[in-house]
This record gives sequence, structure tokens and C-alpha cells, in this order.
Amino acid sequence: FSTGALAGRNVVITAGPTQEAIDPVRYISNHSSGKMGFALAKAAAEAGASVRLISGPVHLPTPDRVERIDVTSARDMHAAAMQQTSDSDIFISCAAVADFRPETVAEIKIKKDPDSPNEGMTVSLVRNPDIVASVAAKEDRPFVVGFAAETGNVIEYAKDKRKRKNLDLIVANDVSDTSIGFNSDDNAVTLIGADIEEPLPKCSKRQLAGQLIEMIAQFYSQSQEQQ
Ligand code: C5P
Repeated sequence: FSTGALAGRNVVITAGPTQEAIDPVRYISNHSSGKMGFALAKAAAEAGASVRLISGPVHLPTPDRVERIDVTSARDMHAAAMQQTSDSDIFISCAAVADFRPETVAEIKIKKDPDSPNEGMTVSLVRNPDIVASVAAKEDRPFVVGFAAETGNVIEYAKDKRKRKNLDLIVANDVSDTSIGFNSDDNAVTLIGADIEEPLPKCSKRQLAGQLIEMIAQFYSQSQEQQ
């Protein structure tokens, strides 16, 4: 039995990067460490929620009382997120999902032609599904929180993204500053909703996760009262 701000709530969180296979030994990915998503999972569990964490390939221990579901590609993550949000109250999309994947995955390791040392190679990419937008478009949708990592015009782009993807809240993150965002231990963000724009100054991802979970819980209960 728990008495926290999210007691009795089911929370699903995505975290980390995705890996998009080119052949059996190669992939396309990004620098996401998963730290922010794992910190959010820990904070949500501490706030009393029952947490399922859908994680791409990361090197992090699973927080206590968190159920972890490991995935590799964006399509795996999409399938897991659609399934896990069928009975969830809140969905937080923190993963750095690859926007594109190779159109085809070679069944055997791609070889370079020894007779053509100057020849390049082309990998054709196709769009991946937008996971957070898919969850937000569900008929019986949970309260949906997205992230927006940007390198300029951060607030503007985040506001636009929140509307376009039909999210309740979006966490705007300026990743042009390398001391915050991606692999760093610190972060500074702005939480944006329909009627709010709340800057949360720079602090550790652990502290920030606690503040974000507290605010998400607050806006979630407000949304429940309005129903
Ligand atoms: O469009 P952009 O990638 O900047 O949006 C970021 C937000 O969308 C994040 O919450 C991220 O987790 C989510 N996203 C997603 N599926 C994608 C791309 C982004 O869920 N294919």
C-alpha cells in the first residue's frame, strides 16, 4: 500500500535510444543514455505508482519496484507501448526514438567489394512510427507526456509539437548546451501544457525527475477532476 501522489496509478515510461538494424552486426542509433527516463521511473515508483519501463539498449540498473521491458528497435518499442498503455493512467515518452530505419535489413553481413575500393554505399531509410502520437491517438488514451529535445527555438518548437502530437504536457529540453540533456547528469527543462509554461532550473536528473513527477501528478489529477 502506498500513499504517494501517484498511489494506485499505472504509469508507462519509455527511455533510452532505439537501434535500427542495417545487417546482423550493424545498426543506426543515437547518444541517449536513458538516464532521464530511468530517473523518472524511479521517482514515479517512489510516488507510489506501479511503473512499467520500456527501455531501449542502455547500461543502467533497473530501479527498485519498476517492471522493465527491454526492446531494441522503434517498431518493437511501438508495439510494447501500444500494448502496455491499454490499462495505464499516464504515459511518459522519454525515449529518443530513431526517426528512420533502414528500408531493408540484410540477412547476412554486408561486404565491401575488394575490386571496387572507391565505391561508396547507400542505405535507404524509411520513417518509423511516432510512438507518443500513436498512444495519444488511442480512443481510451492515458494522460500523455512527451519530451522535446531541441537546439534552438526550444519553447516554440515544443509548443508546436505538443499540439501536433496531441500531448497533455511536453517537457522542453535545450540540448545545444552539452552540460544538460543527452549523456549528462544534469538537466534544465520547461514544462509546457495548454495553459502553463513552467521553467525548472538546472539540477541533477534525479532531482528534476522528482519535480517533474510531482507536477505531472498534479496536472494529471486536475485533468481527472475536469472529466
Ligand atoms: O518529433 P520528436 O522526435 O522531436 O518528438 C519527441 C517526442 O516524441 C519525445 O517524447 C519522443 O519520445 C517521442 N517520439 C516517439 N516516437 C518517434 C519519435 C519521437 O514517441 N518515432
